[in-house]
Amino acid sequence: MTRIFCLIALLVFNSVSFSSHSQLRKLIIDCDPGVDDAMALILAMKYPRFEILGITTVFGNAYPDQAVKNALTIVELSKKNIKVYQGASKPLRKPLDAPPDFIHGTDGLGNTRQPDPKITYQSKSAAQFIVDIAKANPGQVTIVAVGRLTNLALAIQLDSSVTKTIKEVVFMGGALLVAGNVNPVAEANIEGDPDAADIVLTAPWKVTMIGLNVTTRVKLNDEILSRIKNGNKQYGPFIYSITRFYLDFYKNSNHLTGGFYVHDPSAVMYLIDSSLFKIKKGPVRVVTDGIAIGQTIMPVLDFQFGLSPWTEKPFINAAVEVDTRRFLKTYESVMLRK
Ligand code: RIB
Ligand code: CA
Repeated sequence: MTRIFCLIALLVFNSVSFSSHSQLRKLIIDCDPGVDDAMALILAMKYPRFEILGITTVFGNAYPDQAVKNALTIVELSKKNIKVYQGASKPLRKPLDAPPDFIHGTDGLGNTRQPDPKITYQSKSAAQFIVDIAKANPGQVTIVAVGRLTNLALAIQLDSSVTKTIKEVVFMGGALLVAGNVNPVAEANIEGDPDAADIVLTAPWKVTMIGLNVTTRVKLNDEILSRIKNGNKQYGPFIYSITRFYLDFYKNSNHLTGGFYVHDPSAVMYLIDSSLFKIKKGPVRVVTDGIAIGQTIMPVLDFQFGLSPWTEKPFINAAVEVDTRRFLKTYESVMLRK
């Protein structure tokens, strides 16, 4: 009798875990393509357990019209029916900075000069799309944000209930206790719109931060890219070509050897396999003015300082370690998956 019970329990357990695995995870990808944004989009498109409900774009690595055009180019390459929504063209308060064309090229895709896409973007704004799609799929939609967090902040300002209807936000940005990449303490996505970032990080929703402290632990190299170029005919040659200029930037300006950082795919990798990362929980605030503008600060010590800007703020999950070897293996195997 006990053995029969155990057998039934095992069968039920297996069918539950199989069905939950077989359910597709619904994503919105908010991005500013951008070379590593393009790689993040392609990784998410290639992973079989994701359903991309829409792509939203934001100013950042390229001017707004170029960023949305680049997203459309990648959708065309994928041959998938994914709609693209244009979002913010400037930060909430601070002036707009020129795009970092010395990293991503003047076209945002490593100066590869892609032909104009034939498809067009939707008339609905990115913020409105986020609010509407979350309402239509309550508790089911994850936002992967790999650019400035302006569209997410605008969505909250449009309808604060979005923090209840969205399942989770996973973003690439910030730097915990490591040097920044746009000033000594700040990372580009956060410094690009610090007010938006502080709104998003202190809102009452589940947020996971994949910051420079982990993305700079992983270097992608040409060996891996060449294998992907040869083994993945749909996306490999495209990725290889857009990364040439980006790779040179890391070689010449950052004196990086042995590869380059793959910031944005890291946020997608977290959703593919969260066990690649070690997480620490705590409130994170963003410095919105002054010489440390864009710095992301999580209290290091557990003791209370009395009332502070961190008091009673929601805890977020922040990645603090990454398994580099397994990350690269998983990335390659998803990209080479038939
Ligand atoms: O700091 C890295 C981030 O800035 C990435 O999202 C990259 O695309 C750049 O915009
Ligand atoms: Ca980006």
